[in-house]
Amino acid sequence: MTAKLISGAEVAAEIREELKTRVKNVVAKGVKPFLAVVLVGEDPASMSYVTSKAKGAAEVGMHEETIRLPAAASEAEVLQVVDRLNKDKNVHGILVQLPLPKQIDEKKILDRILPEKDVDGFHPINVGKLLIGEPDFLPCTPHGVQQLLVRSGNNPEGKHVVICGRSNIVGKPLAAILLQKKRGANATVTICHTGTKDIAKYTLQADILVAAMGVPKAITADMVRPGTVVIDVGVNRIVDPSKEKGFRLVGDVDYDAIKEKASFITPVPGGVGPMTVTMLLVNTVRAAERKAGIQSPE
Ligand SMILES: NC(=O)c1ccc[n+]([C@@H]2O[C@H](COP(=O)([O-])OP(=O)(O)OC[C@H]3O[C@@H](n4cnc5c(N)ncnc54)[C@H](OP(=O)(O)O)[C@@H]3O)[C@@H](O)[C@H]2O)c1
Repeated sequence: MTAKLISGAEVAAEIREELKTRVKNVVAKGVKPFLAVVLVGEDPASMSYVTSKAKGAAEVGMHEETIRLPAAASEAEVLQVVDRLNKDKNVHGILVQLPLPKQIDEKKILDRILPEKDVDGFHPINVGKLLIGEPDFLPCTPHGVQQLLVRSGNNPEGKHVVICGRSNIVGKPLAAILLQKKRGANATVTICHTGTKDIAKYTLQADILVAAMGVPKAITADMVRPGTVVIDVGVNRIVDPSKEKGFRLVGDVDYDAIKEKASFITPVPGGVGPMTVTMLLVNTVRAAERKAGIQSPE
């Protein structure tokens, strides 16, 4: 069996088309969706993420502004910017690009963002709301994974989803999303982590296997049952002198071997990655829709 490719780029493009219409509807009510991004320092990866967020926002007709602070900025300075954006009635979504320089307490900054503008979905209030099944904003990467599954015809309802990784930004919120008694969810969820003895025992039982470990080739072909749907969240840099930048990106699964066993698989790059930015745009439009008194789609 050779797996069908789930293209994150294609699904993201489909969602962005839908967003263009939603943005027009909000604008017609006098509200222009506005995403504010805070970038501290000049980390090349962060700068490239911020650029793709700005491009995505422009593509769907939203307003975007990146506030750039020097790498030496103090915690107080970043908090000041967040406070200003919290107060600005025209701003619907605030995203502080992580990681932040060492002198700044990330948690303190993220907790300062008003929950109703927290389009990353990381504020404790939004995390709690997700867990009880009343979310305002779903965290972007796990929401993107759910959309990839549903829109590729692999609805997780009634399926056994095994997630490898329990981080607060991917594994745990993905589990919280997929176990809700809702459409596009209602799955049986198992989470594996470094404390799990014999991970293969669980991955071999998966209908849908999600790898979010940050370890290249952590999932090998012998850990995958034929016909499994495999979603690779991992993004790892591997030294590759043949590339202009000196590295290439690989996921957490042994792609070449597993694509011969899986029924569906996401590539890296071009799988989950393009979805993350798109779901950030979805959350910002959602925040603007609320302001405009428009009911957002689920
Ligand atoms: N495409 C995207 O948009 C996107 C977004 C976010 C993250 N990512 C990528 O996804 C990957 C995971 O990110 P993250 O932020 O969730 O990473 P993280 O915070 O480092 O968490 C990794 C998780 O995987 C578990 N783990 C690591 N090695 C393992 C092993 N050998 N066996 C079992 N479990 C193992 C860890 O277990 P413990 O809890 O026991 O330590 C931890 O729960 C990274 O490659 C990251 O770059 C991609």
